[in-house]
Amino acid sequence: MLPSASEKIPTPRPLVRIGIIGGGLMGREAASAFGRWFALENFPVRAELTAVCDLQPALLEWFREVPSVRLLTQDHRALLASSEVDVVYVAVPHHLHERIYLDVLRAGKDLLAEKPFGIDLAAARRIQAEAKRLGRFVRVSSEFPFLPGAQRAFQLAHSGELGRILEVKAGFLHSSDLDPAKPINWKRQTEFCGQIGVMGDLGMHVAHVLLRLGWKPSSVYAQLQKIYGTRPDGKGGTAPCDTWDNATLHCVAPIAGHPTPVTLEMKRMAPTETNTWYVEILGTDRGVRYSTKEPKTFWTYRRLKEQTWEKTDLGFGTPFRTITGGIFEPGFPDILMQMWAAFLAERAGVLGDRFGCATPDEAVASHELWAVALDSHARQQVLSVS
Ligand SMILES: NC(=O)c1ccc[n+]([C@@H]2O[C@H](COP(=O)([O-])OP(=O)(O)OC[C@H]3O[C@@H](n4cnc5c(N)ncnc54)[C@H](O)[C@@H]3O)[C@@H](O)[C@H]2O)c1
Repeated sequence: MLPSASEKIPTPRPLVRIGIIGGGLMGREAASAFGRWFALENFPVRAELTAVCDLQPALLEWFREVPSVRLLTQDHRALLASSEVDVVYVAVPHHLHERIYLDVLRAGKDLLAEKPFGIDLAAARRIQAEAKRLGRFVRVSSEFPFLPGAQRAFQLAHSGELGRILEVKAGFLHSSDLDPAKPINWKRQTEFCGQIGVMGDLGMHVAHVLLRLGWKPSSVYAQLQKIYGTRPDGKGGTAPCDTWDNATLHCVAPIAGHPTPVTLEMKRMAPTETNTWYVEILGTDRGVRYSTKEPKTFWTYRRLKEQTWEKTDLGFGTPFRTITGGIFEPGFPDILMQMWAAFLAERAGVLGDRFGCATPDEAVASHELWAVALDSHARQQVLSVS
């Protein structure tokens, strides 16, 4: 268990040395979390970023500003050969996941993988099997459950206080792709992002809390949309934009033995939405609703003669205490740091009853759903998920 606020933690605290492969958007976000690790209070493990690999020299230059980084390389095998790296975070395009994740595992390192954990179900299963065979500690990045509102929603759903669950809705919504002049990038091309498109890009975020509650869909009817077929290639021409942009999955999940409607939305073209992650769980006794659109607002109702949504303002109620005042609002960098704290606490065996990072089994379970969703859309049928 983690030490309490007053308990003395042993000094010196063990140091975990981290290497990053892929120093783009997410690689740099991770570096920022380690850069202020000291903000975590009484946390039993120190974390230090020691090595970074990216193909782009300009990004490696950016990491020169991080004082603890001792190795900068364009070859991920050089990073994996370093004795100064214990844990590797890999944040590269999806077509590279399998090759690089397997290299990490075979180099004897533990892994925080990025979603979707392989470009497709077969790749995800191979990574899962190798991690198991080698006995490495592997988790998958999904930070939104570490928001105080998401934590409260999970805890209430887990407690049984909601009564019989009537229905569940969860989603992750973006809108910047509505702009047809937005240039192409790898996330909009099947070759690099995968056939599952937006489900691979946003789906783990939507599925994590529900899978952790044990609410895996047993059937799905999927509606998938491709909206713009091409985009500017950034060089004066156009390039194919061939991934699914929007996905709505109408599922049934057995919850406490009852077939229960579960609707999952993953959309790059949801007008007015900017990184909106939400979950809504309605029960016969109580219900919860939380969305990053109102990041500190937590909605609940109770079954009375009339039901009324009640609104609670949340403060900095993150799972791991930091120096930040309890009334302040957390944001994306905070929850990313919380996710890393959960990863390193679980790796050290001190997570206790806190919410943990997504597991390889959960990532494979999400891939099983996305694979059947592709088939369901193609056949326009409700299909069973194994
Ligand atoms: N957890 C989240 O909230 C979240 C958000 C965005 C993306 N992601 C995931 O993170 C991963 C990366 O996405 P991103 O948005 O950071 O992408 P990005 O394009 O910003 O960064 C990817 C980086 O990988 C580098 N790269 C490519 N091939 C490489 C190789 N062989 N060796 C080393 N580096 C290589 C690229 O140069 C680039 O800098 C994806 O799996 C994506 O789904 C997660």
